[in-house]
Amino acid sequence: VNDVIGKLMRQHRTLATINQSLSPELAGLVALDYGVDLTIAQAQTLEELLVEEFGSRAPVEENLVTRPPVVTILGHVDHGKTSLLDKIRSANVAAGESGGITQHTAAWTVEIKGSDGQSKRVTFIDTPGHQAFTSMRARGANMTDVVVLVVAAVEGVMPQTIESINHARAAKVPIVVAMNKIDRADANPDMVLGQLAAQGLNPVEWGGDTEVIRTSAQTGQGIQELIEILDYQAQLLDLKADPHAPARGTVIEARIDQGLGSVGTMLVQDGTLKVGDVMISGQGYGRIRTLLNDRGESIKEAGPSTPVIVSGLNNVPNAGDKFYVVDDVDRARQIAEERETLQRQKDLAAKNQTVSTADALYA
Ligand code: GTP
Ligand code: MG
Repeated sequence: VNDVIGKLMRQHRTLATINQSLSPELAGLVALDYGVDLTIAQAQTLEELLVEEFGSRAPVEENLVTRPPVVTILGHVDHGKTSLLDKIRSANVAAGESGGITQHTAAWTVEIKGSDGQSKRVTFIDTPGHQAFTSMRARGANMTDVVVLVVAAVEGVMPQTIESINHARAAKVPIVVAMNKIDRADANPDMVLGQLAAQGLNPVEWGGDTEVIRTSAQTGQGIQELIEILDYQAQLLDLKADPHAPARGTVIEARIDQGLGSVGTMLVQDGTLKVGDVMISGQGYGRIRTLLNDRGESIKEAGPSTPVIVSGLNNVPNAGDKFYVVDDVDRARQIAEERETLQRQKDLAAKNQTVSTADALYA
C-alpha cells in the first residue's frame, strides 16, 4: 500500500490515503507502472441492484394492458414546438376545462380523438430547442415511444433538427415530422421535403416512409391529422404495461421547493405509483408524500404513461434518473446511502484527478 501511495505521489502527483478511490484513468496508469492487467468492473445500475435485492420485476403477462403512447416534441429553437403542443392541448381539452389548464410541467396527458373516432390519451413531453439543451433532448428521446420532429417550413432543417434526428435514431424511436408554420407566406415545403430526404427521412409523398404533416400552430391546420397519425403509430407499436407492477419510470425534471422539499416531475412508465409508496431514485429515497397531476391537482395514484409531480424524497434526483418503488423502506434507505457514498467517492476521485493533471502542468 505504501508503495502505491508513494508512486501516486511521485509519479502522478496525487495525494492519496489508504482508502482512496481512484478514477479509472488513474487506476489504469498505476496498473501500467506495475505491469499489471487491469479490468474495471462495470458499476451495477440501480435496476440491476434492485433486481438482485428484490427479485425480478418483469411484468406479469396476463396483467398487461394497453397504455397511452408517450410522444416527445423535438426540434430546432423557435420552430414552434411549444405552440403546437399548446394548440393540441387547447383543441382537445374537455369543455369547461379550457383556461383552467396551467403549465405545471413540461409533460401533459391529453385526451384526443383517434383515427377510429375513439377517445384516448396521449402523453406529450415538450423539450427546448436551444443548442444548450442537448441532454434534455437526448433524455426526451430516451423516454418516449414516438418523436414528433418539428421543422419550420420557413427555415427548414437546422443544426438542432439534425441533432434531434440523431437522438431519435439512437433511441430507436419512430419519427413523425410536423412541418410547421405552413401558414407563413414564405413557407417553402419543397425545400423542407428535400432537406428531410437528405437526412434519410424520405417523405411518404415521395415514396418514402416518413410521415410529414403540414401544420400551423397559428391556424390549427394539420393538428387533427398529426394526432391521428400519432394514434395510428401507437397502435402499431402495441404499447403495454402492467398497472399492478411496482411503479418505475424516469425523472423529467427535479428541484427543491420551499414548502415541499425535493420535488420531481416524473413519468410513470410501468406499474401504478401511489401516495405512501417507498421510492428510490438517484441518490434519493423516501415515502411519497404528495402526487400532483399535470394540472397541479392532488391525486392518490398514477398509472402507466402518466406524468406526475412527486414530493417526499430526501434528496433531489437528477433529470434522467430512473425511479423505482420498493417495498422495504429500511433497505431503500441503505441502498440510497450506499449510492450517495459511492457518488461522493467518485466525485472526489474525479477532483483528485483534475488536481493532479493541473499540478502536472506546473511540474
Ligand atoms: P423553443 O422552445 O425555444 O425551442 O421554441 P419552440 O420550438 O417551442 O417555439 P415556440 O412555440 O415558442 O414558437 C416560436 C415562435 O414561432 C413564436 O413567436 C410563435 O408564435 C411562432 N409560431 C409557432 N408556430 C407557428 C406557426 O405555425 N405559424 C406561425 N406563423 N408562427 C408560429
Ligand atoms: Mg418551446
